[in-house]
Amino acid sequence: MKENPNMSEKMKVAVIGCGSIGKAHAASYVVDPRADLGAVVDILPEKAEALAALHNSRAETDYRTVLQDDSFQAVSVCTPNDLHAPITIEALEAGKHVLCEKPIALNVAEAVRMCDTARHHSRVLAIGVVNRFGTAVNLIKDMIDRGELGRIYHVSFQQLNHRGIPGLGGWFTTKKRAGGGVLIDHGVHFIDLILYCAGQPAPRKAFGVTHSVLARDIPEYAYVKMWAGPPDPMGVYDVEEHCSGLVLTDGPSISFDLAWARNIGQASSHIDFLGEKAGIRLQYLGNFRVYSFKDGVLYDSEPSYRTENLFDEEISGFVRSVLDGEKSRADIEYVLPTQKILDALYASAEQGKEIEIH
Ligand SMILES: NC(=O)c1ccc[n+]([C@@H]2O[C@H](COP(=O)([O-])OP(=O)(O)OC[C@H]3O[C@@H](n4cnc5c(N)ncnc54)[C@H](O)[C@@H]3O)[C@@H](O)[C@H]2O)c1
Repeated sequence: MKENPNMSEKMKVAVIGCGSIGKAHAASYVVDPRADLGAVVDILPEKAEALAALHNSRAETDYRTVLQDDSFQAVSVCTPNDLHAPITIEALEAGKHVLCEKPIALNVAEAVRMCDTARHHSRVLAIGVVNRFGTAVNLIKDMIDRGELGRIYHVSFQQLNHRGIPGLGGWFTTKKRAGGGVLIDHGVHFIDLILYCAGQPAPRKAFGVTHSVLARDIPEYAYVKMWAGPPDPMGVYDVEEHCSGLVLTDGPSISFDLAWARNIGQASSHIDFLGEKAGIRLQYLGNFRVYSFKDGVLYDSEPSYRTENLFDEEISGFVRSVLDGEKSRADIEYVLPTQKILDALYASAEQGKEIEIH
């Protein structure tokens, strides 16, 4: 890592995993003037070849080819969740800087090993908590930091879909590959975004409940939205499609409802920040409204601003941390508390009791 930015220096990088998110990383590397997309890797050669052809890059089927190549400085790990820890640790040990997709890993124990390996080898390890790079999210964080909302005492969020379990029967719904269902898939983004905006309060306790009801009979599952592939009738479904929870932190309390699928045909996706002076409703990945009160008058306004591409911002942040030594706002150290909350919520749901977080 260097102290002084050198704008002509380039970071040679490979994307490992050419699925939906690997494609997004690749597209952002090719528009970053200081990144060189040297290779794209997938165990399925047709996926690697298609993405390589799109970006005039090189296709590989074994990520170790890249790890053994000294010309690469960095990799993006965009594989299913169970491969985050092993590939990231191997890459760090091979001297690469890593941007690993969210969630960090299947659990905190793996996440801590990843963090320790990055520190031991003095390498950047950033996590794909992409909302930390969102324009609206950063405007809200700045307003909270300036005290414009007063003390934030509670944050609630909802991410509710009618029938949208991703890749039913595939890795997303197989616990040993994904670590869990809607909580580790969607919840991770919301919880991390809230901790970021609230100034990284330490999590203290969590109580969660999970439900796995609507897709137990995969061939019977009717859906209105299906991403990550059609249902595999012979596949596994042993994760939750619904999760509700309450988290206590040193700052605001957090409550939520999450559902990939439920018997209500209305979708909902927002976060409410409740402050003593004002409140904000953020539509997830969208705009926000500010609700305030002064001199007996209620105000309600929707700010206008220019938004940047989330993934382009995330990738250029990663390039800056590798080439310029700028600490990433998505450094694994900042994201570990999010993973601790996920683990505690799953433990609580399993044990039927509140779990302390240390
Ligand atoms: N940041 C976000 O908003 C966001 C959105 C979607 C997914 N994700 C995360 O990105 C990761 C991938 O999700 P996805 O939706 O792209 O999944 P996906 O199933 O579409 O893609 C995963 C790809 O990894 C490949 N792969 C599997 N094992 C491999 C290996 N050993 N070496 C190389 N490639 C391998 C698969 O063949 C597949 O093409 C997950 O961890 C997911 O949680 C993040």
